[in-house]
Amino acid sequence: MNALSAKPAVLVIVGGSMAAVKAPSVLRRLRERGADVRVIATRAALQFITELSLSTAADGPVGTDDHWFEARPDALHLTHARVEAAVVVGASAELLAGAAHGHAGELALATLLSVRAPVLWVPAMNEAMWTNPAVQANVSTLRGWGHRFLGPEEGAFGTRGEGQGVGRMSEPDAIADAVTALLSPAPPRDLEGVRVVVSAGPTREYLDPVRFISNPSSGKMGFAVAQAARDRGADVTLVTGPVTLPDPPGLRVVRIGSALELRDAVLSAALGADLVVMTAAVADYRASQQNGEKQAKVAGDVTVHLTPNPDILAELGREKGRRVLVGFAMETHAGVERAALKAQRKNADFILLNYPTREGTAFGGEDNQVTLVRPDGSFEDWPRLSKREVAERLLSEAARRLPVRT
Ligand code: C5P
Repeated sequence: MNALSAKPAVLVIVGGSMAAVKAPSVLRRLRERGADVRVIATRAALQFITELSLSTAADGPVGTDDHWFEARPDALHLTHARVEAAVVVGASAELLAGAAHGHAGELALATLLSVRAPVLWVPAMNEAMWTNPAVQANVSTLRGWGHRFLGPEEGAFGTRGEGQGVGRMSEPDAIADAVTALLSPAPPRDLEGVRVVVSAGPTREYLDPVRFISNPSSGKMGFAVAQAARDRGADVTLVTGPVTLPDPPGLRVVRIGSALELRDAVLSAALGADLVVMTAAVADYRASQQNGEKQAKVAGDVTVHLTPNPDILAELGREKGRRVLVGFAMETHAGVERAALKAQRKNADFILLNYPTREGTAFGGEDNQVTLVRPDGSFEDWPRLSKREVAERLLSEAARRLPVRT
């Protein structure tokens, strides 16, 4: 809470996007909910919206680069950073890049660097920009540091609705809801002292020094589980295959390549673990013989002999003890029956079934739509949720199965 008032202070940074015109509605809704609203507009934002329309909707003058260096007792990027939550509306690719690289050359970025409170990004940009790997890499970096994201949504965007696709900024009510959630008390530390092992990402099964069998797993689901467990107080080891995500702070990260390496790392980490969550997309087979040299191209078909990889989850299930085991399964058909059989065969407490063919979910997506399947065949369909929310629900389910600690 702010020292001068009982209202939570919220910083709204307005970025240079067409969606900046929605910023006054966001400011009004936050004020209606009792927040003390500070606002900063970037130079680009002021191309889309005037300082006057922002300041009338906020609780004071607008912070801009032009006023940054005016003489005052405390620098503007420090006073505006003393808040309970910060939200970047109309977040542009430029602001994401600046924040992901620690730039401080403009008031908005210097303030973001100084904020200690939770930060929510509400991006708005053209689909081509949003899906660009450079932008997505910056988003992943920020997520890895605990920043939250809302949207962008699918639909028409731009002042004349000329844009179509993913890129539209979320609506002011949804933004106010998300900021309110950020202001609510910290998540429960219900996993304090619980030892959790999470596997994530794909494995690579090399045929020769340059060719491998793998799959498109991005690791995002497993990283979300590991980060959520860390935030709930768990002692977390994350064993991950080759992914582009940076190491999340506050947990042990083990990077592996093949399924056999994954097996060694998971089994040794699992020795003292209370909960093991296998989100890794383990390759079912490896080359029977790995060639030490790159194989030359030959005319006609080639035959590759494959050997099944050990099933790590099943191996853990055979010596289950009091450990809680959670698996994931990806099925294109007869999902629930197959997942229930898997849970039985592998002796898992439950399996989260996801569907590779649903857009925006599973491989690489930010969201996931899963069905929780128990070995007895009973199941629960969960709605489409962000991977972080799926992770939170998974951990709540798993926590209920942990032995009572004294
Ligand atoms: O049998 P299937 O590959 O569909 O099972 C998926 C679940 O089993 C996932 O939790 C995955 O991490 C785990 N698994 C494993 N070792 C394998 C194959 C899958 O632990 N070799």
